[in-house]
Amino acid sequence: QPLQWLAQLKVHLLRKTTYIVMALDHLTSDVQTLDTVRIDSTLSQPLGTSLLLSLSIENLHEVAADFRYDLHKGLENPDESSLRMLKSYVGLPTGEETGEYLALDFGGTNVRVLRIRLDGHGKFEVLKKVAKPLRVEGVYDFVGEGSTAEQQFDFIAELVDEAIEGDHTTKYLLGHTFSFPSEQTDLYNAKLIIWTKEFATAGVEGKVVNDLLKEALHRQGIDNVEPTAVINDTVAVLLAAAYKQADTYIGSIYATGHNTCYFEPFKGKAERPMILNLESGGFMKLAPNRFDAEFDAQSEKPGEQRLEKMVSGRYMGELFGMAIAELLGEKGKKYGFTSIDMSNIILDEMAGLTEVGRIVSAKTGHDLEEVDRQRLQELASALVVRSARLVTATYVGIIWQLAGDDAIKKQHIAIDGSVYEKMPLAKENIMRALSELLGESASLVDTVLENGGSGLGAAIAAAMSQKQA
Ligand code: GLC
Repeated sequence: QPLQWLAQLKVHLLRKTTYIVMALDHLTSDVQTLDTVRIDSTLSQPLGTSLLLSLSIENLHEVAADFRYDLHKGLENPDESSLRMLKSYVGLPTGEETGEYLALDFGGTNVRVLRIRLDGHGKFEVLKKVAKPLRVEGVYDFVGEGSTAEQQFDFIAELVDEAIEGDHTTKYLLGHTFSFPSEQTDLYNAKLIIWTKEFATAGVEGKVVNDLLKEALHRQGIDNVEPTAVINDTVAVLLAAAYKQADTYIGSIYATGHNTCYFEPFKGKAERPMILNLESGGFMKLAPNRFDAEFDAQSEKPGEQRLEKMVSGRYMGELFGMAIAELLGEKGKKYGFTSIDMSNIILDEMAGLTEVGRIVSAKTGHDLEEVDRQRLQELASALVVRSARLVTATYVGIIWQLAGDDAIKKQHIAIDGSVYEKMPLAKENIMRALSELLGESASLVDTVLENGGSGLGAAIAAAMSQKQA
């Protein structure tokens, strides 16, 4: 059965190279129409290829160049760019910052407060860590529409109290990693522009978040804790990585959400050098396919966070489910696939792809034949590969912008997040896309995992706030 053999070869090669797969798609299309399967084969063919096609090197180049263009434009006038280019009012640490600080990590439903001692030489120790969710189904909810700013920040202040073990005398500076788009006028002063990640608490948008925190601390008699710095989680990742290792200029979150910041030297400009939070999840110059377009239209905030909706963990699972619904003739049905499901599907190497079968039937209620399981595995892989390549194109846009007319410098890109850390195919496709886009210079660039950078970064920002004062 030469045609079936080709189909098997195709699955094997998918993990190796996406290009050969595209060519094989043509060769094996006859096999797919011969199968008697539940999946409509006339649908699966264009679906797979449209997702794969968006990964061509020409497209990637275009994305990287457009990203660079938006960066360049955004430096002159953010209104002309799809990137928000938010100023952080903090530069790179020296690695010699020392002292004990409180770090508040507020960027998702799980809030953490840490007491951290910085020892200099890139060293630190976490002395205490407390964490609580802002929402427990059926018990309390400080993120939904019914919640208020006071309730939310009172809850956070209680967590701070736990971290200092009720000590209301020792003075502490607090660094706050607040991972939502915020307009800053200095390191302390950050106003939430708009909630992202489905947060809806009333009375926070447009407010200076550290004022809300200060008031809540005061209400609980915690006047010895002074919030002095607010940073985005991407900025925290960059600070944490640069504290340990020189030559790090880009910090990125590649997780449930996606965003990147970089250190802008403002060469020849009056502005002092500082890190800019790009809110790159909002990058618009992309070629969304019909699934992306439809998904965006149905989302909470249509037209916003277009890149994030194509690449981040939270949305990839939903896109995957949406495509499957169409393939199974149940367009519009929501199965609740997550990026963890996608990861397990991609990793399945068992004969008959039994794990893929199990996951898909648990979510959709359908049993699939092996050939269809393969198609879904390919679809999951294609989505992850596309995501990694798009994200890399944005990194390269920044690297080009930083280099200007000069040669690219040796550097590390610091990344934190479950997709980067755990999703199969993500890291290797970042590396591959880097070398496709940068050619020989790719050997100067590597990526490093900055695990838990949000807490450490906040402590470093608090330490740096002292120098600025
Ligand atoms: C969302 C937020 C951004 C944050 C990212 C990762 O994109 O808007 O500020 O950095 O999620 O948490």
